Amino acid sequence: MKKRVLVATGGGDCPGLNAVIRAIVKRAENTEWEVIGSHQSFDGILNEPSEIILLDDKAVSGIHFRGGTILGTTTKGGPFAWPIKNNDGTWDFADRSDEMIRKLKYLGVEAVINIGGDGSQRISQQLYEKGLNIIGVPKTIDNDISSTDFTFGFQTAVQIATEAVDKLVTTAASHNRVMILEVMGREAGWVALHSAIAGGAEVCIIPEIPYDPKAILNHLNKRYHQGSGFAIIVIAEGAKNIHGDRISEKSDEIGNANLRLGGVAFQLEDELKKLGLEADTRVTVLGHLQRGGVPIAYDRVLASQFGVKAFEMVLNGEYGKMVSYRHPDIVSVTIKEAVQKYNFITPTSYLINTARGLNMCMGDNAKNKITG
Ligand code: F6P
Repeated sequence: MKKRVLVATGGGDCPGLNAVIRAIVKRAENTEWEVIGSHQSFDGILNEPSEIILLDDKAVSGIHFRGGTILGTTTKGGPFAWPIKNNDGTWDFADRSDEMIRKLKYLGVEAVINIGGDGSQRISQQLYEKGLNIIGVPKTIDNDISSTDFTFGFQTAVQIATEAVDKLVTTAASHNRVMILEVMGREAGWVALHSAIAGGAEVCIIPEIPYDPKAILNHLNKRYHQGSGFAIIVIAEGAKNIHGDRISEKSDEIGNANLRLGGVAFQLEDELKKLGLEADTRVTVLGHLQRGGVPIAYDRVLASQFGVKAFEMVLNGEYGKMVSYRHPDIVSVTIKEAVQKYNFITPTSYLINTARGLNMCMGDNAKNKITG
């Protein structure tokens, strides 16, 4: 009888998830291992009856360019905080991790590959500490996981955001408008900064550098001569002004601990107008378009490398570890190390220097190369 490795995808979906799943299955072919998949993260194990599928060659054929995940995913609950509704309508959260580990043993699962973001990898670490043979694969469009140069899905999101900037440029130029594009990224500005540089935006606002609306206004005014001119502002959803204000809302979804971000672009528009910005403004919130559709070739390659590596880590018994990209290699790091630190952009990094060198305003009063 073959040994069993179970694959799960957790957290928000991300272009490239299917390419990872396919690579795991292909690498496992002709070994003593059989690959199975759990529906919607670990819910497939905890649900009664279990929702588990065999991941064979047929199941993964041609999925490498499909967005989303064939296994389904969830941002809610999980084995350590399973939501249970009380009779009075309130909710409690149960720790079902021991039960899940018992069930995995009963199903003959000897190893687990958990593909997910920082929240999912924290769950991986907790399960590892309880004795589960688990391996993490980092995924997120936000690129906010440390201990890896890049996560798959990020470059696809950047491509989509850059295409949005390109489109906004033509309409902004036609109307002499300031177009504000809000992109995802949670507490990190990676998607915003990459797409702002790639799209040639005039202003880029990221959470790592609190913004001063006055500094932005000064920069914008230099772009206008007798009412003529245009500008593109790319703002990350997690951005905050110098007073720490950010429009955000608590999630109303039971079991989803994440703050739901969105709307800071409207806050900035309001601030600029109040300061006297004369140009017409329009806001575009790009939202989940950044996560949908096919992964670009770069992400398919990275995801395939991650999948092959993850299975090879199973073969080597490298449990408690996460796949990591350290150019030009794919290596493994401890999950513990990976979840300890959030991957912010360093304000003194060459990427920020590049933006400033392009005369892009980063929302602060630091001097840019050209206009000072
Ligand atoms: O982490 C990926 C991400 O798309 C973030 O950029 C964004 O803030 C969040 O997920 C949105 O989550 P949801 O899909 O739950 O609305």
